[in-house]
Amino acid sequence: MLARPAIHDTPPAPRPAEAIHPGWLRATHWLNALAVVIMTMSGWRIYNASPFFDFTFPNGITLGGWLGGALQWHFAGMWLLFANGLLYLALNVATGRLWRKFLPIAPRGVARDLAAALRGQLSHADPRRYNQVQRLAYLSVMADIAVLILSGLVLWKSVQFDLLRELMGGYEAARRVHFLAMALLAAFVVVHLAMVALVPRSLIAMIRGK
Ligand code: HEM
Repeated sequence: MLARPAIHDTPPAPRPAEAIHPGWLRATHWLNALAVVIMTMSGWRIYNASPFFDFTFPNGITLGGWLGGALQWHFAGMWLLFANGLLYLALNVATGRLWRKFLPIAPRGVARDLAAALRGQLSHADPRRYNQVQRLAYLSVMADIAVLILSGLVLWKSVQFDLLRELMGGYEAARRVHFLAMALLAAFVVVHLAMVALVPRSLIAMIRGK
């Protein structure tokens, strides 16, 4: 009698390599990068029209050509940043990716990974996992963008968002909050790009998915 082949006799069909970053994540990441560039460069032009520090940004690195043009760029970028950010967060929560990728995180783990990074001993063997310094940086930049949007709402519709305005200490204080959050975001982008340059494979994965 012919024995029935055991299940494990049949080799499993080869599975296509799973993407490191799903398509929706890559799309929202690059749209976010575009929105951040538009918002930052047009924001500098708006600041230049009424600076509160004793410096202005060189016009060559601003967007919009003049105050009115910069405001239009800023509002256009705002909808992209807001809608795209909401989609990114919703998909991250709905798929459980937010918890898988960014947790756990603890001061001890961040200190350990930071020390390893400074000694050049941080492992990049598994590109699917973020180390705890990356987790902290990414979660912080998400919170920073939330502060930018909330303080931006106060500057845009200060009468309608009066509670938010008062929580920020008034209109002029909200301008400083908005500026400080922009400066933190710009600092994140500089460090982020330096880290990507150190591990170019991560850029390929953010473009091609694997
Ligand atoms: C053109 C400039 C940018 C480049 C080349 C770039 C590149 C990358 C790469 C390669 C990763 C994956 C890191 C890894 O797998 O180890 C990443 C992740 C990330 N980047 Fe960027 N990035 C850029 C701009 C930005 C900007 C402007 C932001 C602003 C907030 C940002 C926020 C993030 C966040 C939050 C993640 C984690 C995303 C997730 O896994 O959910 N990036 N970026």
